[in-house]
Amino acid sequence: MLNHDEKQLIKHAWEKVLGHQEDFGAEALERMFAVYPQTKTYFPHFDLHHDSEQIRHHGKKVVTALGDAVRHMDNLSEALSELSNLHAYNLRVDPVNFKASAGQGRGEFPGVRDQPPPFPSLPGVRAVPGAAGSGLPGAEGWSAADTVRFALQLLSHCFQVVLAVHLADEYTPQVHVAYDKFLAAVSAVLAEKYR
Ligand code: HEM
Repeated sequence: MLNHDEKQLIKHAWEKVLGHQEDFGAEALERMFAVYPQTKTYFPHFDLHHDSEQIRHHGKKVVTALGDAVRHMDNLSEALSELSNLHAYNLRVDPVNFKASAGQGRGEFPGVRDQPPPFPSLPGVRAVPGAAGSGLPGAEGWSAADTVRFALQLLSHCFQVVLAVHLADEYTPQVHVAYDKFLAAVSAVLAEKYR
């Protein structure tokens, strides 16, 4: 699915990430928690304050894993197999909780529950009758697997924003396309063992 040129673009851009795994990862996670607070549901055991050690530590792990994926782009399933097992277990969150968490105890994000989904039509996320525009994912009719796929898209999106901020002009539309496809492929592997 990734062509030769796209793989080259990904590898080349990744050189700019090296040495910044912790910063970029923490920034992506912080963006995810701020913009999509329902994702905090997965991290009830973390200190989610700005610059928390846990966020920095976890961010480094996530971006380091992405770096492994960059080195094994032709064999993502095998390279990410263990991580896929781990996420199939970790991300076992009831979509009802996912929804409920969006509006509760998050006074700094008022009304988030009433906002329409950030991405109305998502490839790979099946349409739910009656759910369109009715709220965040986790609306009735979403399976737990749907919410996981959605969470993976949210983190992928936040990581792309981080890349865009730091790579600036080098994050061309072509690099953007390549990373979009790459992160979708990584996400597909991380969600594939989820039942
Ligand atoms: C753990 C990578 C997406 C939730 C981890 C770990 C890595 C990782 C490397 C640590 C594994 C270990 O300790 O052995 C990734 C990558 C992702 C991704 C590369 C996608 C690009 C997500 C998403 C969520 C999530 C979208 C939920 C919003 C978790 C949780 C843990 C975890 C809850 C366990 C954290 C802990 O208790 O230490 N992930 N992850 N991950 N991930 Fe992900």
